[in-house]
Amino acid sequence: MHRVSATAVVGLQWGDEGKGKIVDLLAAEHDVIVRYNGGANAGHTVVFDGERYALHLLPSGILSPSKTCVIGNGVVVDPVQLLSEIESITERGIAIEPDRLLISDRAHVVMPYHKEHDAALETALAGAADQGDENLSIGTTRRGIGPTYADKVHRSLAIRMGDLPDEQVLRRRLDIVCAIRSRELEALGVDVPALDPAALAAEYHALGVRLAPHITDTVYALHDAVNAGQRLLFEGANACLLDIDHGTFPYVTSSNCSTLGIPPGTGLPGSVITDTVGIVKAYGTRVGEGPFPTEDLGETGERIRERGHEYGTTTGRPRRCGWLDLVAVRYSAMVCGCSSLAVMLLDVLSGFETLKLCVGYRLPDGTTTDRFLPDARKLAAVEPIWETVPGWSQEIDDLTSLDDLPPAAQAYLDRIASFVGCPIEIASVGPDRMQTIRVTQAARA
Ligand code: IMP
Repeated sequence: MHRVSATAVVGLQWGDEGKGKIVDLLAAEHDVIVRYNGGANAGHTVVFDGERYALHLLPSGILSPSKTCVIGNGVVVDPVQLLSEIESITERGIAIEPDRLLISDRAHVVMPYHKEHDAALETALAGAADQGDENLSIGTTRRGIGPTYADKVHRSLAIRMGDLPDEQVLRRRLDIVCAIRSRELEALGVDVPALDPAALAAEYHALGVRLAPHITDTVYALHDAVNAGQRLLFEGANACLLDIDHGTFPYVTSSNCSTLGIPPGTGLPGSVITDTVGIVKAYGTRVGEGPFPTEDLGETGERIRERGHEYGTTTGRPRRCGWLDLVAVRYSAMVCGCSSLAVMLLDVLSGFETLKLCVGYRLPDGTTTDRFLPDARKLAAVEPIWETVPGWSQEIDDLTSLDDLPPAAQAYLDRIASFVGCPIEIASVGPDRMQTIRVTQAARA
């Protein structure tokens, strides 16, 4: 295998760090953009030639006609959502030829019953909590992600993209699946008519026929791209602390969204990855349930939410907000093998007299640690150990050079780099491409 530049972009917190902007910037320097995990639970808005595009499944590179985009085998694909994204882009004059969008024949399909199951289980668990039981709901996006990955691991009832174009295969599978799923949904209290396998097979076969020109063996396609010397960009969805194995289980998503998901989600060995850019929001946010030691339920959290427009792209939910947890970021950078960091939304912190950084945790027994605790119950019990640093008063969203940043903002970046042990490559001070500071010399780890 030839040595080729392959960059991974991954969020180091609980998602919504602003990966989309960095993927867009880096896409210009790469030939093939690859999604390896997650599904339509992810989401970002891309502004391209003055137009706004909301993407959930399509890799961002799809807006550049010279890029190839790959939806790898580790992704769970909702064909209805995918086709609507393809349509919204082609309607605006950007062609998506079959060889420009490759969808793995092994990617698993999100079916309507997966979404119903996801929503019904969440509702049932939240209802049980209202009655005084432990709250076991995750606060999912209700996009069917968990049930689809569960079917993948369970194997017998799974449907993959390669199955859709063959109506006979699909119909035989759905005869069995629908009978079982109807009973399960009924048990969860879903008040919908029983699933109709013939109608579902016809509908999803038709979707499969429309997507068929794109469905292929992406493992060979990716190896061919590497061998041809093409530059690959891996676009992580969700974020490291939501990783099913390494995040704050059970308040996580159902895939390996750290960079460790790249080999199984693409069929490429990890050794192809030459650079890993960890995306860090300058403060902390989280959506859904789960521990968040630096969450601020008072005025500071509210101020960050309003200045940062912290409302979900996929669900519109207000995000929980707080200060930056450096212990968590250092853990994620370690798990993902980051070679550099991009610090996003630095402009949101303008105007605070002082800022707080979490540099350790105090445990219930009074001891302290500077190591992250991915176990949700243990993490919920810690108190942050704060370092208070000076803030800056001026707005910084029109600055383009590190030297122009107020000294306190430079010191804030330096502290992130030195604590995490990783150099900062980019500081972002606004959503536009122009509002990007390339940090080459300073903020060295
Ligand atoms: P699911 O992925 O829909 O099953 O949701 C599981 C958990 O991950 C929930 O707390 C979601 O809010 C969270 N989550 C999933 N995807 C994202 C994302 O892209 N950004 C932020 N949170 C996410």
